Amino acid sequence: MTNRGQFNSRLGFILAAAGSAVGLGNIWKFPFEVGAGGGAAFVLVYLFFAFVLCFPVMVAELAIGRKTQRNPVGAIKALGHQRWVGIGYLGLASGFLILSFYTIVAAWAFGYFVEILLGNFEIGNHFTAFTTNWLKIGLFSIVFMGGTAYVVSQGVGGGIERAAKILMPILLFFVLFLVLYALTLPHALTGIEFYLRPDFSKINGEVIYKALGQAFFSLSLGMGALITYGSYVSRDTDIVRAAAVITLTDVSIAFLAGLMMFPFVAYMTEGDLLQMREVSGGAGFIFMTLPGIFQSFGGLLGVIIGATFFLLLTFAAFTSTISLLEVPTAYMVDELKIERKRSTWIVAGLIYLVGIPSMLSTGSVDFFTQFITFPGTGTLNFMDFVGLLANDTFLPLGGLLISIFTAYVWRRNNFAAEIAVGAGKGGFLSMYVGFAISYVCPVILGVITLVTICNNFLGVDISGGLF
Ligand code: PFF
Repeated sequence: MTNRGQFNSRLGFILAAAGSAVGLGNIWKFPFEVGAGGGAAFVLVYLFFAFVLCFPVMVAELAIGRKTQRNPVGAIKALGHQRWVGIGYLGLASGFLILSFYTIVAAWAFGYFVEILLGNFEIGNHFTAFTTNWLKIGLFSIVFMGGTAYVVSQGVGGGIERAAKILMPILLFFVLFLVLYALTLPHALTGIEFYLRPDFSKINGEVIYKALGQAFFSLSLGMGALITYGSYVSRDTDIVRAAAVITLTDVSIAFLAGLMMFPFVAYMTEGDLLQMREVSGGAGFIFMTLPGIFQSFGGLLGVIIGATFFLLLTFAAFTSTISLLEVPTAYMVDELKIERKRSTWIVAGLIYLVGIPSMLSTGSVDFFTQFITFPGTGTLNFMDFVGLLANDTFLPLGGLLISIFTAYVWRRNNFAAEIAVGAGKGGFLSMYVGFAISYVCPVILGVITLVTICNNFLGVDISGGLF
């Protein structure tokens, strides 16, 4: 077997996996879904899904990876189930597609960091002009993708693990710094109250559906990223405990992002609840509204807070793009026997090309801006279309197939035996994971996949208006 590389330490592995999980999803999307979805009521639903549904899928992915020491395609083959190899290819496709547009949003964040560092706070008022400036976005995204590819090309221990060990502590420090600063702002407590006061009347089928999708995406599940990372984990690691730590870290950072964001929202709206709801429900908040808020802090302070925020967003995205790129790279290395450096640059180049239509889809080119219409979604631009396909459809479908595969094809006793390696006597968590992967995950993920396909693509509401 070729030398595929390994994580050098347990901590390194956990930081890399947590780095994959903590991303734009936590900091960009989570706070707004909380704002729109009933505050703490949404957080509770989210936590429920993270631990009840996502955690077992994470353990399954890690176990498949560690057992076989292969990429998602090779892993299914190595377990002797060639007919299920489609799961691996579906994962590759998801990684490919998600990375193609994720890089563009990451490039916006990186671009904002540079602009604010140069004192340009007006950028928020010129968001569309910024995203349609393809030369700029093209450049920022090349730098971002180039950086990602460089890290991945350096291998698992020397690249991925090392980057995570440097970036994750900085990221945590930035988050804490921003939370502490945000809490000193006028009306901060009103913001926190808005964030955390549960409004259960907001919880409906759609909010539950959103919370589930968000938890799944946020934990990087359903596409084999954690099969791939699991394949570099040593056999003395307790993967159940590791998965618990990764889930907790991810959820905590998302939670902290809310603690940082809502004081900003409250500060801007002077604690007006109605306005807060309006402002914080929209995903444009970060790119359109926040720069103005930073500007109002005045001079150097504004630059420091603003630049720190967008650097935080950039770092969070970076450790996620690394894991997204690692999946197809590991496939090329393991299955096609192409050397790592070469594999990385080839895949990164291809994905960059696939991302160009996304880059042009926020207004630059009409064809991509009004790309496609489905009965249930209205007209989508290319980027949203890829998001609908990969995030909303392929990930839950991938998770469903991984659960069924683990419980009924690879089989629960083999799964349990793999979990036990490095863990000693299995406790309650291990028992729960085995049960959930057989019953809870297939059912919930099956429903979600079906609802997504029927509601969005076919425009058939099979839930009787529930979702
Ligand atoms: N978990 C990342 C986020 O929350 O932004 C996104 C992601 C990364 C999804 C890696 C899937 C993946 F494999």
